[in-house]
Amino acid sequence: MPPTDSLPPPDAPPPTDDFAADPDLVLAVDDLAVEFPLTRKTTFAAVKGVSFRIRRGETLALVGESGSGKSVTAMTLMRLTEHDGARITRGSIRLRMKDARVVNLLDLPEKRMDNIRGAEVSIVFQDPISSLNPVYRVGDQIAEAVVRHQGKTKEQARRIALDMLRLVRVPDAERRLRQFPHQLSGGMRQRVMIAIALACRPSLMILDEPTTALDVTIQAQILDLVRALQAEIGMAVLFITHDMGVVAEIADRICVMLKGEIIETGSVYDVFDTPRETYTRALIAAVPALGSLADSPHPQKFPTAATLTSAEGA
Ligand SMILES: Nc1ncnc2c1ncn2[C@@H]1O[C@H](COP(=O)(O)OP(=O)(O)O)[C@@H](O)[C@H]1O
Ligand SMILES: [Mg+2]
Repeated sequence: MPPTDSLPPPDAPPPTDDFAADPDLVLAVDDLAVEFPLTRKTTFAAVKGVSFRIRRGETLALVGESGSGKSVTAMTLMRLTEHDGARITRGSIRLRMKDARVVNLLDLPEKRMDNIRGAEVSIVFQDPISSLNPVYRVGDQIAEAVVRHQGKTKEQARRIALDMLRLVRVPDAERRLRQFPHQLSGGMRQRVMIAIALACRPSLMILDEPTTALDVTIQAQILDLVRALQAEIGMAVLFITHDMGVVAEIADRICVMLKGEIIETGSVYDVFDTPRETYTRALIAAVPALGSLADSPHPQKFPTAATLTSAEGA
């Protein structure tokens, strides 16, 4: 009997013991489909049966143009799309929790999901200013997340908040704790969001275009930070972007999404080296011209010129 909360629905994929076989497997999404009702009779299929896995210590990049279904996928992992009227029509989202039990998040009632959000799975959005509450001090907002999910005292939570700000390399952390969000730069605010996301040591962190609103230098710093934290903490990371330059910087594996489907997947090295799909080649070809790291002083992991040549020749 697998340690899930309830039996899978009849149309779920056949049960496998992939979590038992792979102790590092954190998330398994299988055949997930999400649609939005448009009129009483028509629906829009935003996500059409996507499957992917993420292991502990691994960063999976979900890439694709605007509107391809990346954010709907991410928000569905948090069971937040249903609040926007979406219907999850099939699939499963199995997560190994910190206590090692595996649950299908789609089976959980809202109350249990509330305990999972932030504590087991957390998300960092593109725009930190609308995610932070303008009237509370930064330190209190981190501490609040810790108190809510970890049952620590206020004093303990305050100490953890300070540790978290140091962890995300916010200089002068003690002073920053007492500041309000508007007193911080965009890059510092995004560090605070990452600190909040990390405060409860989730097994899975989702970052949805976390650097899109930041300038190139700050973006490179945030990417460095995510990579370093990944090495230190070893959680599973789902990194959403439309920028292949960012993928090359940050990810181990990649899923390319187009019109609600994953059309190509593989290790970043393989996909950059020999992309199969025309669409993937186009995304890669866009990097030198449009990639947000094109002017970055940081070395790129992959020689984009060589990649371009092979893409053109294919
Ligand atoms: N609440 C909603 N109601 C109706 N359609 C939506 C809603 N949210 C997203 N969509 C649609 O789903 C598609 C995928 O959106 P999204 O996942 O946000 O794309 P992206 O890949 O840019 O993150 C888009 O066509 C979008 O218009
Ligand atoms: Mg999006």
